[in-house]
Amino acid sequence: DKKMILDLDTGVDDAMALAYAVGHPDVDLIGIIASYGNTITTTAAQNSLDLLHLLGADDVPVFLGESHSITTDSFTVMEISKKIHGQNAIGDVQVAKSPRPVEKQSGVDFLIEAAHQYGENLIYLPTGPLTNMAVALKKDPSIAGLIGQTTLMGGALTVPGNVTPFTEANIHQDPEAADVVFKEQKNLTMVGLDVTLRTLLTNDDTQQWRDLGTEAGKIFADIVDYYIKAYYDLDIDKRGAALHDPLAVAVALDHSYVTELPLNMKVTYDRESGDYGRTIGDPDKLLDPTYSTAAVLVDADRFVPDFQKMMLSVL
Ligand code: BDR
Ligand code: CA
Repeated sequence: DKKMILDLDTGVDDAMALAYAVGHPDVDLIGIIASYGNTITTTAAQNSLDLLHLLGADDVPVFLGESHSITTDSFTVMEISKKIHGQNAIGDVQVAKSPRPVEKQSGVDFLIEAAHQYGENLIYLPTGPLTNMAVALKKDPSIAGLIGQTTLMGGALTVPGNVTPFTEANIHQDPEAADVVFKEQKNLTMVGLDVTLRTLLTNDDTQQWRDLGTEAGKIFADIVDYYIKAYYDLDIDKRGAALHDPLAVAVALDHSYVTELPLNMKVTYDRESGDYGRTIGDPDKLLDPTYSTAAVLVDADRFVPDFQKMMLSVL
């Protein structure tokens, strides 16, 4: 089994990524790191603990990650995030509290330790800002070549961003950190809006979760219905809501879900021009061997039903 670390800013699609990973037979989920983004880091950690409890996965430890970007000293949740994910980031649904606290070790130290312990066999999967990995790389640059694969949800290469015309939310939260990760981390796969906006979940899907008659099925349906309604009301997509974060988990385990473009990338962070958080090819490395890829096409007709099947087995 592959060892996996999820680094989540636990909002609605992060919650689905968590359930998907818990249910996946090929995954040994060794820990969850909490990030800021859809909510503040402590709430993300609590959401992860509570959802793990709901799923009967109380053996997965949860670690606190950084609480703000590397260039700021505080973080405020964007209004748009609250609209899409709710005030508590999980659709304003009340989930029973986990009896467990977060771990004492920091998320950054846990990542560094796991990189040394598991190396090639480790999948690191961030679905929020890339702050934790940038801080870890600064503390221990050797992890860049140790971790088997880093597959991240974030960025946009061939389509517009969802925060500005060029920038996607996870990258926008901390472009300087993302630039460090894109330039230094080896075996990096970017699963961005290019592909995630093509994988949609509908109320018919969540109704099937509800029909299971389980507590987890009902709670997850309530959480995700909030997100689908937000997509509709905000006119992001009237057909369904994007499976951003779960797609990254699926790709990490089976790269044949997508078509990847080999490309060394960088992230812009010029505040004045507004070009803040754009993921783009690195002009200084066009002649170098490639160490990263960007997913540009996805087999949604295969992924969405596979995802649904996994959810029906875990909920
Ligand atoms: C990404 O931003 C967050 O709101 C979502 O959880 C996802 O990771 C989409 O841009
Ligand atoms: Ca996320």
